Amino acid sequence: MDLRQSFSDHITRAAGDAETALAAARGDGAAFEGIVLHAGTRAYYHADDMAMHFRPTPHFARFAPVPGPDHFVVVRPGTRPKLVQVIPRDFWYEPPGEPDHPYAQVLEVVQTTTPDEARARLGDVARFAYVGNDAATAAALGMPPSAVEPAALLAPLDWTRAAKTAYEVECIREAGRIAARGHRAVRDGVATLRTERELHAAYLEACGILEHECAYNNIIAWDECAATLHYETKRHTKPQPGHVLLVDAGARFHGYASDITRTYARPGAHAVFWALLDGMEVLQRDLVGRVGPRRSYVEIHEATHRGVATLLVDAGILHTSPAEAVERGFTRPFLPHGVGHHLGLQVHDVGGRQVSPRGDRREPPASSPALRTTRDLEPGHVVTIEPGLYFIPMLLEPFRNGAAAAVFDWQLIDALVPCGGIRVEDDILVTADGREDLTRPVVPGHRDN
Ligand code: GLY
Ligand code: MN
Ligand code: MN
Repeated sequence: MDLRQSFSDHITRAAGDAETALAAARGDGAAFEGIVLHAGTRAYYHADDMAMHFRPTPHFARFAPVPGPDHFVVVRPGTRPKLVQVIPRDFWYEPPGEPDHPYAQVLEVVQTTTPDEARARLGDVARFAYVGNDAATAAALGMPPSAVEPAALLAPLDWTRAAKTAYEVECIREAGRIAARGHRAVRDGVATLRTERELHAAYLEACGILEHECAYNNIIAWDECAATLHYETKRHTKPQPGHVLLVDAGARFHGYASDITRTYARPGAHAVFWALLDGMEVLQRDLVGRVGPRRSYVEIHEATHRGVATLLVDAGILHTSPAEAVERGFTRPFLPHGVGHHLGLQVHDVGGRQVSPRGDRREPPASSPALRTTRDLEPGHVVTIEPGLYFIPMLLEPFRNGAAAAVFDWQLIDALVPCGGIRVEDDILVTADGREDLTRPVVPGHRDN
C-alpha cells in the first residue's frame, strides 16, 4: 500500500468527519469555527521532577502520528489541517524524533521549539473548540470553558472513529504483525518453562519494542494467575506446576494497537482443561464467523455465554442444560468480561456504547455490565473477539454457598482452579460482506503451527 496516498485519503476522511461534527454541534446550538486538537501536556509524579510516560490525545493522534506532548492540529473547515509541532531545543532530554511517515507531505506543518511559540502560531482560535487534556491551554488560547471538549462535538467525533480508513486498518494489521513476533517467542518458551519475566523480556526483544511501546501492560500468566483478568505482575520464579500459560499482548504501529491473546496447555494439565481449551478454540472460531456488517455485537456476546455454557455442561462442571445455565446466570462467574471491544488508537476504543452520532447510548445488558461494545457492527469497524472461561474462586464462592450449589461439580472445579483460565483473542475487521481476521494469519491457534 502507498502510505502517502492512503494517509492522504485518511486525512480527507478525518477532516470531513471533523467538519460533520462541527455542523452537528452547530445544530445543537454549540457553534465553533474549527477545532484545536492538542497532543496534550506531560504529567509528573507527585512532588517529583520525573514525568510519566506520555500518550497523546487520541483525536490528535488520528491526524498526526508524531510522538511527544504540546503539539497542536488545527482543523478549520475548507483548509488543509495544520500541524503545529513542538521540537524543543534541549540537552537534558532527547527531543521526540520524527517518525518515518509521510505526514509532512499531507498536512501543513509548522515547526516550533516551545509551547508558547506553538500557541502563538495557531492564529486566532478563540472561537474554536478544544480537544485535549489541559483546560489551561484552552484558556490561554482565549477559549471559554464551554469550548473544552463540548459533548455536542465529542459525541460525533467519537462516533466516526469506529469505522476505520484503509490507512488505519493497515496500521492495526502491522501492529498485529509486530505482536505476532512476540507471541511466537512466548510460545517457544512455554515448553522450557521460562518464567513470566523471561517470557515478557523475550516478547519485547522479538517485537523490537520497549516496555512503554507496548499497546498495554502485557499479561503473561502461568497457571492460577491466568484467572486474574488483567494480571500484570511478572513473577521471576519458575512456574509451578507450569501447566497453563495465558499471554495477552499487543503492539502499536503509528499509534494504532493490536490486542491478542493465546492460551497454551502443557501435557500435565488436567484432561478437562485440555477439553475446555480445545472447545474454546472452536467456540472462538464460531464467534468470529458471526462478525459482519449490521450484526449485533450484543448478540455475539450472548452467543458466547451459550457457548461457554455448553463447554461447562459437556465438561461435567455444570449439571444442567446449557440453556438453563445461561438463564440462571451460572456462566457469569466463569466469564465476567464482555466478548470484546472496538480497537484502534485506544485498545478499548471510544464510542463502543454509542448508538448515534448525537451520543445516544445503549447500556450493556444488566447481566453483563462489563460489555464495552453494544453498538451494531458496520464495515470498517475493528473489534476484538475474546471469549474466556476462568476459575475465579472469589466469583464462584457465592454459588458454592448458594441455593444452586448442587448444580456445580465443586470437586472438579477445585481441581481446575490451579489451571487459572482460558482466553483466545483475535482482532477482526468488519468488511462489506463479512469479516477479515487480522490476527489468525500471523498468530496461529494453540495447536497450529
Ligand atoms: N488486553 C486487554 C483486553 O483484552 O481488553
Ligand atoms: Mn481485548
Ligand atoms: Mn487483550
